[in-house]
Amino acid sequence: MIEVNGLTRTYGAFTAVDDVTFTCEPGRVTGFLGPNGAGKSTTMRVMVGLTPPTRGSVTIGGHRYEDIPNPGRHVGVLLDAGAQHAGRTGREVLEIGARTMGLPKDRVDEMLAMVSLTDSEAGRRMGNYSLGMKQRLGIAHALLGDPEVLVLDEPANGLDPAGIRWMRDLLKGYARRGGTVLLSSHLLHEVELVADEMILIGRGRIVAQGDKATLLAGQGAAATQVTAEDNDALAGALTSAGHDVTPDGAGLRVTATPAEVSRTAMDARLVLTDLRAAGAGLEDLFLSLTSDTQREAAPAASPAPTQDGAAA
Ligand SMILES: Nc1ncnc2c1ncn2[C@@H]1O[C@H](COP(=O)(O)OP(=O)(O)OP(=O)(O)O)[C@@H](O)[C@H]1O
Ligand SMILES: [Mg+2]
Repeated sequence: MIEVNGLTRTYGAFTAVDDVTFTCEPGRVTGFLGPNGAGKSTTMRVMVGLTPPTRGSVTIGGHRYEDIPNPGRHVGVLLDAGAQHAGRTGREVLEIGARTMGLPKDRVDEMLAMVSLTDSEAGRRMGNYSLGMKQRLGIAHALLGDPEVLVLDEPANGLDPAGIRWMRDLLKGYARRGGTVLLSSHLLHEVELVADEMILIGRGRIVAQGDKATLLAGQGAAATQVTAEDNDALAGALTSAGHDVTPDGAGLRVTATPAEVSRTAMDARLVLTDLRAAGAGLEDLFLSLTSDTQREAAPAASPAPTQDGAAA
């Protein structure tokens, strides 16, 4: 269990992390989501004692990280995968870790196999590693001491699609066995697929938190995307029934539930060719909640390319 309590970190007059409070529970994957510069890495650095907090505290299993004896056996950390010594081979990095934590040497081979790094790759210097290889080694290093808590900053960064799926399964399995996982990302999709709980941060402040269903439930009125053989007739029937209708692609977008739309169509004896819920979705939620903290204004539903091809 990770407990972050009133955590604030300032740099001069700038507040990077502003009174942040949350917990990460065992058996759950918690996604830490926010745009670039939101304060995710700073929060995680404070968690593992690399940056002192200005105010507030973080405990892992009830202890400050600095007070945990042999911390690698309890907390697996992946912050900046590129931060390893460029002159060491991947195998050496793990061997040093294993020795520091008092682990048997065959644990290194076990970990290399788990992250699918070959013998020849493990013998290469880190300076010559690809981004994805560094990331895999970083994950192996984090899991080396069989910790019960994982703190991973952008772990999917640089992984190929198969690697991303592999990591997702790995983290889900780890949580299912009772582990606590906190992983950060600025990519919503990545977090959405793996996280049980989500914490949204923007400009140092938490803007929303909860499980996916709870976050989505707080998301305004129902909407439906519908296409009929005769869209005009359907639009007329829906408008008469008191719903707002706007043309959308090949069909219509309606402020009503799919059931209401279906019933209206049935009463008017109209044939539907497509019907689906068009809730605002997590992406819209993420963008709206962090809109005043984005570098770019939150785009409208689908940003149209401008003449010169750049996104509007
Ligand atoms: N040592 C430092 N000195 C001054 N400012 C800092 C320092 N470390 C971080 N910051 C600032 O704190 C803010 C938060 O940075 P942080 O790295 O935590 O963001 P992040 O959420 O991890 O972003 P990203 O998605 O880009 O990794 C940024 O504006 C950053 O410039
Ligand atoms: Mg970061």
